[in-house]
Amino acid sequence: MSEQPLKVILTRKLPDEVEQRLSDLFEVTSYNDDKPMPQPALAEAVQSCDVLACTLGDRIDEDLLSLAGPRLKLIANFGAGVDHIDVQAAEARGITVTNTPSVLAEDAADMAMALIMAVPRRLVEGVEALRDGRFTGWSPTWMLGHRVRGKKLGIIGLGRVGQAVARRARAFGLSVHYHNRNRINTHIENELEATYWDSLDQMLSRVDIVSVNCPQTPATYHLLSRRRLELLHKDAYIVNISRGDIIDEEALADMIADKRLAGAGLDVFSKEPAVNAQLMKAPNVVLLPHMASATVESRIDMGDRMLINIKMFADGHKPPDRIIPEML
Ligand code: DGY
Repeated sequence: MSEQPLKVILTRKLPDEVEQRLSDLFEVTSYNDDKPMPQPALAEAVQSCDVLACTLGDRIDEDLLSLAGPRLKLIANFGAGVDHIDVQAAEARGITVTNTPSVLAEDAADMAMALIMAVPRRLVEGVEALRDGRFTGWSPTWMLGHRVRGKKLGIIGLGRVGQAVARRARAFGLSVHYHNRNRINTHIENELEATYWDSLDQMLSRVDIVSVNCPQTPATYHLLSRRRLELLHKDAYIVNISRGDIIDEEALADMIADKRLAGAGLDVFSKEPAVNAQLMKAPNVVLLPHMASATVESRIDMGDRMLINIKMFADGHKPPDRIIPEML
């Protein structure tokens, strides 16, 4: 590596302390807007920088990468999911891609657990009823939800976030079932008392609550297809804090409207920031604006993690959070 500090282009406003630490080490140009960088600005950025520090919402596809200048060697994503980056195309051009896993897992799992509690217990409906002046006093038959304790939770993707969800779920008295590309090691399975289902279909037909915690990849696009959603029993709930396109959102909305599913808690959507109109109207659905990792602590840790990746790269080492396309 040359003695010159690396030229890092930051595609979006990050917390001040993160930007400050980056600027202390590198020559940083910030887009400085809290919106995804528009495609023409991204095209200019990839032509001139050594490192593109990007976020979810920036579209880093093959077309964009075909414009990359010879200096671009690292795309350091601020965030765990890299479904907005064509990692294969980057690798083919010798560009390394990194993300910021683990640091946000606990906060994301808190949000999944909050939704697992909020939907069956009708938390948001209760708040709205009270705010609308519909609370006329305690009633033996009003606002009845469903007990969470004793239910079967089916986790799709028992990685860092999925395991953190499982630990919380155990404490709330749920039994843990999971489907994963590969069975996880026995020691973790035993600790979580988790039952592995090689067949997602079989797991879906037996669980009461589904938590989606796998990354979005071509293999997980519409993993919860209409056919698979129909395997769930009609009192089942779905929680998704991962990516909207893992579920066939239209099918989910139809099934909730037709009362063929009991409800859903969704932090992510297929066409963010747009939200399916049918889901917006459904009372038994809790919708959040993609905020599962939105804590000050996670954002700073994500920034530090991104910085470590860039620094390791700048020092001529392999960054710790390299994405290996074959592992996606
Ligand atoms: C991620 O990290 O991919 C989240 O969705 C945003 O923090």
